[in-house]
Amino acid sequence: MSDAAASDIVELVKIKPSAVLCLASGDTPRLTCQMFVQKVKNEKLDISQLTFIGLDEWVNIPPGNEGSCHYFFRNELINPLSIPEKQIHLFDAMSDKLQDECRKMDAVILEKGGIDLMIVGIGMNGHIGFNEPGVSFDNYSHVIDLDETTLSVGQKYFKSKVSLQKGITLGLKHLQESKKVLLLANGKKKAEVIKKTVEENLTHSFPASIMQKHTHGIVMIDEEAASLLTQNK
Ligand code: PGA
Repeated sequence: MSDAAASDIVELVKIKPSAVLCLASGDTPRLTCQMFVQKVKNEKLDISQLTFIGLDEWVNIPPGNEGSCHYFFRNELINPLSIPEKQIHLFDAMSDKLQDECRKMDAVILEKGGIDLMIVGIGMNGHIGFNEPGVSFDNYSHVIDLDETTLSVGQKYFKSKVSLQKGITLGLKHLQESKKVLLLANGKKKAEVIKKTVEENLTHSFPASIMQKHTHGIVMIDEEAASLLTQNK
């Protein structure tokens, strides 16, 4: 799964060197990032025109905290590939002007001609980024109160307990407008949410169900995550 996703990024860069790539952090895309780094090095791929957009960030968690999305991108992508800052756009979730951060991100995406490829994971409550259950499908970047599930599951990224409350995230309108979306999920624990994403109703209470509407939305999963799909039986 990770290799297929990393290959998709490589293919995109070959076809469109100036592509805009939006990546999620978290456990799921980690291996995809690592494999992408390896492929760039092996194939001596020129990524100097690529734009990287970070999907989301925990509000009030500093970039140096190992649980932050900043930390993930720095560790898995920016440092290993020495990507210059001008190619990277991450939310500054420490800003006291978070609305400005949102508008800035929306403007970058617009100015670059939209997102070519978005690679996201899925939360145990069906969130994508921090688009929590009940969120509008028409939002661009926004700040949101985090759902109970996100607050408890989110602790897994942090070495010591942190107080999480809000998130800043790209919106589902960005996802719908993205030219291609890959939703990645692996493992048994994601089987239920994948079933809801693919086979149940399109509903605001389960944000990932928006994937059903995307004309180029691909759900890329392993056998365990696919184990509850009826087509699989
Ligand atoms: P995970 O997170 O990849 O760490 O499971 C997914 C998500 O919450 O979006």
